[in-house]
Amino acid sequence: MSERIIIRGGRVIDPARRLDEIADVLLDSGHIVEVVRGGAADGAREIDARGLVVAPGFVDLHTHLRDPGLEYKEDIASGTRAAARGGFTTVCAMPNTQPAMDNRATVEYVLRTAAAEAIVRVLPIGAVSKDRAGEALAELGDLAAAGCVGFSDDGAPVDDATLMRRALEYASAFGLPVIDHCEEPSLSHGAVMHEGWVATRLGLRGAPAAAESSMVERDVALAAATGAHVHIAHVSTRAAVDAVRRAKARGVHVTAEATPHHLTLTDETVAFGALGGDALLYDTDAKVNPPLRPQDDVDACVDGLADGTIDCVATDHAPHALIEKLCEFDEAAFGMSGLETAFGLCMRLVHAGRLDLATLVERMTLGPVRALGLDRVVPGIATLAAGAPADIVLLDPERAWVVDPERFASKGKNTPLAGVTLRGAVVATVAGGRMVFESEAELV
Ligand code: DOR
Repeated sequence: MSERIIIRGGRVIDPARRLDEIADVLLDSGHIVEVVRGGAADGAREIDARGLVVAPGFVDLHTHLRDPGLEYKEDIASGTRAAARGGFTTVCAMPNTQPAMDNRATVEYVLRTAAAEAIVRVLPIGAVSKDRAGEALAELGDLAAAGCVGFSDDGAPVDDATLMRRALEYASAFGLPVIDHCEEPSLSHGAVMHEGWVATRLGLRGAPAAAESSMVERDVALAAATGAHVHIAHVSTRAAVDAVRRAKARGVHVTAEATPHHLTLTDETVAFGALGGDALLYDTDAKVNPPLRPQDDVDACVDGLADGTIDCVATDHAPHALIEKLCEFDEAAFGMSGLETAFGLCMRLVHAGRLDLATLVERMTLGPVRALGLDRVVPGIATLAAGAPADIVLLDPERAWVVDPERFASKGKNTPLAGVTLRGAVVATVAGGRMVFESEAELV
């Protein structure tokens, strides 16, 4: 049930209106009523937000909910509960389900299940190709009509350049982007991490940075040729950031995202774990695709996020079962469970002085919305303007907490951050006017 709530005395950051001031936020019947100083309570439930940041709920463009078909890893109920704990009030669901979201019926199943079981908004992303096999285009028109907000074969690249060209042409006819997993398979074949000294030391096969950047260059060229919109998923290398920057300067319709892990962790995490030390861990929880990169690439991604070359943070939340990670490194699944650590991890950039807090909030709210044009689908999303959906997050930028995957709402406990202290916590999440998460520490 949505209720009447007044959130008092927080630092209200609303990037859409360039608002950053101490104020009260009043919500009623699932919508924002007003942001004012000294608002009247009028029988509303009062929440004391003094010392906290109050912002629009985070929006994740890149969530693997695994439903249908892979519910042992995650389902719509558990995945959206993880989202709420992470401060997200909207998640875009990737189509690498079983069956793939390459047809209207599967998209309708996801939307129906979300209506019954999700506690935050779920927006589906349709596949580019049938069964994500990279051979024949999916029925993009049907997927658009069913409510998809973009198309992606995420997890796999669209290897065939002509298929990508056609996908861009059709997608632009529906006003939607192609969300591009950039990986040149002939360069990354058999790779399980980044190619560099760490891979050599571990005796593991690596993928070079060029496996990513060469496909970014190709698809930027195809976006330029077609006038279509390409959104580059999980940018992880300096060369890819440079390619996006140059393309934007030329006026190509390209947007990009980076994950919290590619913005903060290096390939050394694979060897030594996130807590560091001398022992070689071969940490399968740090095995992701694209792989964690060296510090120079991380720095370039952070600079790109700060200057707007990278439009937003997106989690690539990729939950897996224990058995898929408790095995030899070569055999382990790619991906980490990311929704519940995203804000705390990104706060490292703020505490290190690389990004200011208001910019981080922008990159997790308005940034993703603008990148995919989600405000056309959900009017008022990611703003605290009167009449907007009451999607709100309360944040404590200073609160330190220790990551314990056993406490995740996600079924995916696969994080290399277990035992790591993060400074920056989600205190509460309101979705559609309903309190969907309150942290254990007292709120009033
Ligand atoms: O690490 C990853 N995991 N990268 C991807 O592109 C796919 C994802 C998954 O679905 O597990």
